[in-house]
Amino acid sequence: MEASVPDHFEQMWRDLEPLGRSPRSGGYFRQPFGSAERELDAWFVEQATARGLRLETDAFGNRVAWWDAGTGPGVVTGSHLDSVLDGGAYDGPLGVVTALSAVELLRERGFRPARPIGVSVFVEEEGSRFGLACLGSRLATGATSWEQAGALRDRDGVRLDEAMAAQGLEVENPQPWLGSEHLACFVELHVEQGRDLVDRGAAIGVASRIWPHGRYRFDIAGSPNHAGTTRMEDRQDPMLTYAMTALAANKQARVAGQRATFGRVDTQPNSTNSVPSAVTAWMDARCETDEALAELVATITRLAEERASRDGTTLSVTAESVSGAVDFDPSLARRIAVDHETGDWPILPTQAGHDAGILSAQGIPSAMLFVRNPTGVSHSPAEHAEVPDCLAGVDALTATLERLAS
Ligand code: GLV
Ligand code: MN
Ligand code: MN
Repeated sequence: MEASVPDHFEQMWRDLEPLGRSPRSGGYFRQPFGSAERELDAWFVEQATARGLRLETDAFGNRVAWWDAGTGPGVVTGSHLDSVLDGGAYDGPLGVVTALSAVELLRERGFRPARPIGVSVFVEEEGSRFGLACLGSRLATGATSWEQAGALRDRDGVRLDEAMAAQGLEVENPQPWLGSEHLACFVELHVEQGRDLVDRGAAIGVASRIWPHGRYRFDIAGSPNHAGTTRMEDRQDPMLTYAMTALAANKQARVAGQRATFGRVDTQPNSTNSVPSAVTAWMDARCETDEALAELVATITRLAEERASRDGTTLSVTAESVSGAVDFDPSLARRIAVDHETGDWPILPTQAGHDAGILSAQGIPSAMLFVRNPTGVSHSPAEHAEVPDCLAGVDALTATLERLAS
């Protein structure tokens, strides 16, 4: 392990550290088509070009940097460079930097791939700006069409194509292009977003499956009125409906052994001395099976409707982004996981969504490697992985690419 510690990993990591970092929280704001995320994209182009990789870029700005070698469809590895609002440094960039490092290591070692090897970056994986998770990989594979994406707007009402045009990206008749004729398989390395590897004392893991998950918008309308003069019994207060719904979601998820979170809420007119006219809140829900997810969302919606009728408010619920269960190709996972110097790597499920899940659902054999996260914290400035574990990730990805591209 020591012999292969690559300086290039640490150099690239230092390059990225300041980009989009909030001096206040230390977290990252790398929303798609914003200035920080575009700087990261330019950095990726620079790194790929410096390594003599051939860049393939689609109409949405998704990129694959190809090491043109061997024949046939390629083995692609990579991740994303965008972040959630106030996110961590590792979610996404770790998969891109380890991928570039692994390619460099393979070349230094004189490896001759039997197939092309690509390093990919997918745009708007987090759905932090346009609300649809894994938008880049969805568009590239045809899981979502451009017509559907055209309706997406960010929080300020900016349409997707307007946001792209503001960065000089004009979208013309884009077509899905990423399929099995192009890709033999896809491997995404990612910081672990939980504590399974810590508990097992393992630095590296392999994904077995992704829980189904979705985002649901709750629009609740009431009657705006004076906060002081309106008698309590005369109000139609949408904040109460929301508050009870958030509590119900938490309780129902806990009872069912699943996950539900309200992490974003808007209120109108957002005035301290007014009963609000409307509340819009977004729920993230994740369950072990598609059926359990549908049942959990239905139960929470029913409880919210019952409360709305007691509050005299109205409610509508819209599913904005739903990703079904993904079972990664078990033979690929085993091929990657077994028989290493340190023993087999554990194979474990995750509740987090990833581009690898979209590619897998579109029929491309896909797999994921996880790098231990000492606290399990993610989507937070406190997200972390120790350098030796990141370097173990580079080694693991290098060994994986060697297996898959031989
Ligand atoms: C992506 O990180 C997600 O699971 O929300
Ligand atoms: Mn990610
Ligand atoms: Mn994430």
